[in-house]
Amino acid sequence: MKINVQESLDTKQEVLVLGLFDEDNELFKKSNEPLSKELEDAIKKKLFEREFGKTYSTSIKDSVYKSILVISLGKKQELSIERIRRSMQRTVDYLRKRKYSSFTTNILNISDLAPKELGRAATEGLMLSDYVFDKYKSKKDDRPELKAVFQYPDNKAKELLEGISQGKIIADATNYAKDLVNEPAIVVNPDYIESEAKKLSKHPRIKVKIMNKKELEQKGLNLILAVSAGSDHDPRLILIEYNNAPKGMTAIVGKGITFDSGGYDIKPAGQFADMKCDMSGAAAVLGTIKAASELGLKQNILGVIPTCENLINGSAIKPGDIVKAYNGKTIEIMNTDAEGRLVLADAIAYAEKNYAPEIIIDLATLTGACVVALGYYVAGFVSNDEKLGSMLVKAGNDSYDRVWQFPFFEEYQDNMDGDISDLKNISPKGKGREAGSITGGVFISKFVNLDKTKWAHIDIAGTAYLAEAKEYNQKYASGSGVRLLSYYFMG
Ligand code: BES
Ligand code: ZN
Ligand code: ZN
Repeated sequence: MKINVQESLDTKQEVLVLGLFDEDNELFKKSNEPLSKELEDAIKKKLFEREFGKTYSTSIKDSVYKSILVISLGKKQELSIERIRRSMQRTVDYLRKRKYSSFTTNILNISDLAPKELGRAATEGLMLSDYVFDKYKSKKDDRPELKAVFQYPDNKAKELLEGISQGKIIADATNYAKDLVNEPAIVVNPDYIESEAKKLSKHPRIKVKIMNKKELEQKGLNLILAVSAGSDHDPRLILIEYNNAPKGMTAIVGKGITFDSGGYDIKPAGQFADMKCDMSGAAAVLGTIKAASELGLKQNILGVIPTCENLINGSAIKPGDIVKAYNGKTIEIMNTDAEGRLVLADAIAYAEKNYAPEIIIDLATLTGACVVALGYYVAGFVSNDEKLGSMLVKAGNDSYDRVWQFPFFEEYQDNMDGDISDLKNISPKGKGREAGSITGGVFISKFVNLDKTKWAHIDIAGTAYLAEAKEYNQKYASGSGVRLLSYYFMG
């Protein structure tokens, strides 16, 4: 995507994209009389509505542009950063459908939003919308690179451009995470996740450490080993350090189950195909560290990825098996399909003991219960720290990669206690389904030193892999978590 900024509209581009507020009763009368007449007529005939996001397109005879797209922006007062992203989605959608490849627009120019945020959001909207996963299509659409020219005042262009370059990095990292998740599990296995992590270490501020099966055995990360026991691919614990601050460290931990069959508690037929998405937490961690390093954020971030497959063979774990975790706690595995919390537990305990981060944020496609509670538009989280919680909510609202806090009341805290072991991996209440997302968080919390460490567990089971396309998100992988964490770290 090429994006330029200039004081006036650029008549050399194919399409003119005009934003129209509810208050604009003149309908471009002064600047474009024929367009104004046509719009008036279209509104009368209800071919064009003044509701946010509705569009009208036309080609005016003798115009310098091949086509004009008018986008309703709603009330000027209500124009938000998210509406900017969405108006860019309308633009990309129109250009791709009609096979145009360049446009110029006044939309940024007529908004009062702060230039940096505006440039960032417009760029995100364009680049996220233009994503396709077509590598397995024999016949691909011809998709030339798009070019955008934003009309914007010269005296504020520098800040806008800063936002545009941030937006490019963030959208690119999000699209990278989408690719990782959309790619089938036959390709994206633990070896592949390892090689993607190693690619990040080309950056001078990034160091990558891979713990292989032997080291996991030596150090006693038996929960990761137990989950991977039924797979032909060796498990890994991947540790990625991005260091660019004098002190402080935040660990981001991503569930990297490259395929979740459920194990002996096998999933019902028809619920398997999507389970390649069970490494979306890992994709979010890789994407966030890629973005943070390219943005040059002044942060120390430790990326932690436990990765393996949850499959079945003669060595696979069985319901009722008891396994000793890295931190010494014993776990009775009541349900082999509640595997995400097991690999996260070892990964988090290992990261805390060996790296002592002040903050730990884990992201996981952990429970179907979270999808039941919240659907696909917002991720659920629990946390032991109010400030961390509100920072995540703010980052979610600003990036629109949103999160919603679940309660973490005292009454839930013994739900995972064991009968013949220290812990069980599902709550006996409703076979793990009653308050399922919260009790998953309770289990993980037993592997964090809650007196010392600020922690949040984000369940992205709904947001990571979408049942249908919506705005600038395509069907399937969304890259959920990358924008959330990038905005969180940008502050
Ligand atoms: N990977 C699944 C959760 C999931 C469900 C992710 C839907 C994406 C979409 C997880 O490992 C799982 O199977 N969880 C169980 C937990 C239960 C046994 C307590 C579930 O949600 O059924
Ligand atoms: Zn599972
Ligand atoms: Zn899973």
